[in-house]
Amino acid sequence: MFETIEWTSADTVRLLDQTRLPAEEVYVECRDVAAVAHAIRSMQIRGAPAIGVAGAMGLALAAQSIRTRSFEEFRAELSRHGEALRQTRPTAVNLAWGIDRMQRCVEQHKALPVAELVQSLIREAQRIREEDILDNQAIGAHGHRLIPDGAAVLTHCNAGALATAGYGTALGVIRAAHAAGTRLSVWAGETRPFLQGARLTAWELQQDGIPVTLITDNMAGHLMQRGEIDLVIVGADRIARNGDVANKIGTYTLAVLAQAHGLPFYVAAPLSTVDLSLPDGEAIPIEERDPAEVTGWAGIRTAPVGARARNPVFDMTPHRYITALITNRGVVRPPYDSGLTALAGPDLSGRV
Ligand code: MRU
Repeated sequence: MFETIEWTSADTVRLLDQTRLPAEEVYVECRDVAAVAHAIRSMQIRGAPAIGVAGAMGLALAAQSIRTRSFEEFRAELSRHGEALRQTRPTAVNLAWGIDRMQRCVEQHKALPVAELVQSLIREAQRIREEDILDNQAIGAHGHRLIPDGAAVLTHCNAGALATAGYGTALGVIRAAHAAGTRLSVWAGETRPFLQGARLTAWELQQDGIPVTLITDNMAGHLMQRGEIDLVIVGADRIARNGDVANKIGTYTLAVLAQAHGLPFYVAAPLSTVDLSLPDGEAIPIEERDPAEVTGWAGIRTAPVGARARNPVFDMTPHRYITALITNRGVVRPPYDSGLTALAGPDLSGRV
């Protein structure tokens, strides 16, 4: 079994390089915050909860490297590193959530000498990782009964152990159903252009022995029309207060298709993905990446030289297409505003 990300006994951050999967299982050891920022930006680590953990661990590495005994100087320097990390990827709110939580830890331990404060930050980053795994297992426990026996489930992108500290969100629900004895099969959309479905989801499910069949993204409508898909489950990068969901590009298309075919469309995410400060999904920043990800793959150009391309890597699915949100504290059905606010409690109050 692989570890997506962990804090090592040598006080470094070790992560599985997802740009090399499935061909090679190679781990990257990050010794400073710059290496973590690079890993997030280049998508060696990706997926909303996983980059939340990476951001927190990156900040713990930064804390170790700050050479001052003054709390004020320490806090200012750490805050600069936090701001730089926040910029690495804009859409998934878990990154900002992880950094905010580390900064709250600084305030809670401000009376400690800086050396002890650093140890508290390292422990906090490790706790964030451990809690994410527990949250995903809770998502699975709450959500698995939504998958009927014999179901064919479509998922998009990778919302599995690789996208989190472990177990996964959408794949966590699938894993929990499988473990509970539900017979199911998974359709994995390949997820152009970065191929998280083909490279990561197919690999992850194969390892667990869960039946998975790969399709290109444009095959989903055809299979729904023929009754070969029973429901859709995806993860999320940010959920606004009204239940609008930003997730991997192509999610919106699948949600509209699911509604047109009368199929349930579920979104599985921990509450660290909920951004109660946004009333709806309009204001969620949508990351645009290098168009070279669209015009070629693995260094091989597939489009003619000079062809213009766009690469928005997320889209926003309006809440009216979503049957239910499966969170670590329970399943939320419309109206999402009151349901999410009630579940979030004090953890998310900083962002309300
Ligand atoms: O660009 P990525 O690979 O980081 O995008 C990931 C996704 O969109 C996932 O579906 C989302 O983060 C949910 S992961 C549990």
